[in-house]
Amino acid sequence: MPHADSALVPETITTKPEFWAHIYSQLDALLDSNQRNWVTNLSNAASLIYNSLLAFPAHFGNGQKAVNWCGAATKPTSNSSPSSRLLLGPFNGKPACQYINTVPGKARGVCADSFLQRRTVVVPDVETYPGHIACDGETRSEVVCPLILSSGEHDGRVLGVLDLDCLAVEGFDDEDKAGLEKIAQLLVKACDW
Ligand code: SME
Repeated sequence: MPHADSALVPETITTKPEFWAHIYSQLDALLDSNQRNWVTNLSNAASLIYNSLLAFPAHFGNGQKAVNWCGAATKPTSNSSPSSRLLLGPFNGKPACQYINTVPGKARGVCADSFLQRRTVVVPDVETYPGHIACDGETRSEVVCPLILSSGEHDGRVLGVLDLDCLAVEGFDDEDKAGLEKIAQLLVKACDW
């Protein structure tokens, strides 16, 4: 099967839990256990999630609710960026901010909050979120999930975040949060950081 077909969403999948379970299994199949490069794996994950969401009617909402950005901002150990920043990582969508300030007290925005607070942040309406960073003025709602290392010498270190934007308010809910968190765990375990 061509790798691109991984982003096809069967018509039998009609609910968000079913969708995220499908994405999980598709990503698991794409992640080759002999290849643990985080850039490669985050690139395929961003493309899979972005294109699958666009193919999923329950999310797409005839286009009015389409995802318009999906990607990562990261700070892996190999990253030479100052410890005070997340750097833009693999993504699908329009050009975005190259880095996110994560200095406590100076940081702002959804990605920095998710990173510093080590939690998924669901934003129903970005225009009401204090400090939101608008890389795309068309974004109306957002969900950001931290990538947290859970084993080995760096146990508990936050590696970065996964960020999804939507063209409509209330584009993401707790079912998306739960699904994205499982995807994040799969990605963290599949890469060398
Ligand atoms: N809206 C995000 C910034 C996304 S950058 O394009 C990765 C925020 O408020 O942090």
